[in-house]
Amino acid sequence: MDGRARGSARAVLAFLLAPALVALLVTPARGRSGQGHGHWDATGLLPPLPPRENAALVARFVTNLCDWGALATISTQEGVRGRPFADVLSLSDGPPGKGTGVLYFYLSPLQQSVGNLQDNPYATLTMSLAETSFCRKYGFDPQSPLCAHTILSGTVIKVSEAEMDVAKNSLFIRHPEMKTWPSSHNWFFAKLNITNIWVLDYFGGPKIVTPEEYYNATFQYS
Ligand SMILES: *[C@@H]1O[C@H](CO)[C@@H](O)[C@H](O)[C@H]1NC(C)=O
Ligand SMILES: *[C@@H]1O[C@H](CO)[C@@H](O)[C@H](O)[C@H]1NC(C)=O
Repeated sequence: MDGRARGSARAVLAFLLAPALVALLVTPARGRSGQGHGHWDATGLLPPLPPRENAALVARFVTNLCDWGALATISTQEGVRGRPFADVLSLSDGPPGKGTGVLYFYLSPLQQSVGNLQDNPYATLTMSLAETSFCRKYGFDPQSPLCAHTILSGTVIKVSEAEMDVAKNSLFIRHPEMKTWPSSHNWFFAKLNITNIWVLDYFGGPKIVTPEEYYNATFQYS
């Protein structure tokens, strides 16, 4: 094994062990609160849900509060080809309280979802306030519409050179660990080109929000 191979093997090992080491080093309470991840919960700043009649703003609120989502793609894997496939992906639309609504991802061709997207870029992303302390605090079951969640559909596309810095800053402020992910995995920045949005935040079925309404909503908390 030459020096470079050994170095990259060590990097992969460090990548695999890092979460376990972090879990050992932080207290459980701190670990769960997402301390150091630029997360609302960590700072005790969880703002109130926007008025439910403003579904576009509720969608932007959920997007900005969530650090991750489940992305559904169409599988290219032998045995389940053509079937739905969902995986958890870290994401960010900007710093807490200052989201732009643009959902950025840091992806590697080694991920199953990315293999699927190379074949078919259509994807649907779900994020829920069940990821925050909101639903626990009010006793809302994750499947209850009162535990606000959003579903966004579109295509996952690579971020252009011009948008690279915004994508990087948005992600790394919420997911500082990404900075240390091994370069051998060929990480790249991507975003969801949103075409359809559904907001579930109350009884009576999902509310439809257009991408125009979503990006136009003024989201700012301090
Ligand atoms: C985003 O999606 C829209 C609607 O499907 C499409 O017209 C547009 O070309 C897409 N943008 C990019 C950059 O792929
Ligand atoms: C954009 O926001 C402005 C100000 O809140 C509002 O008056 C307008 O109707 C919105 N447009 C769309 C397409 O949502």
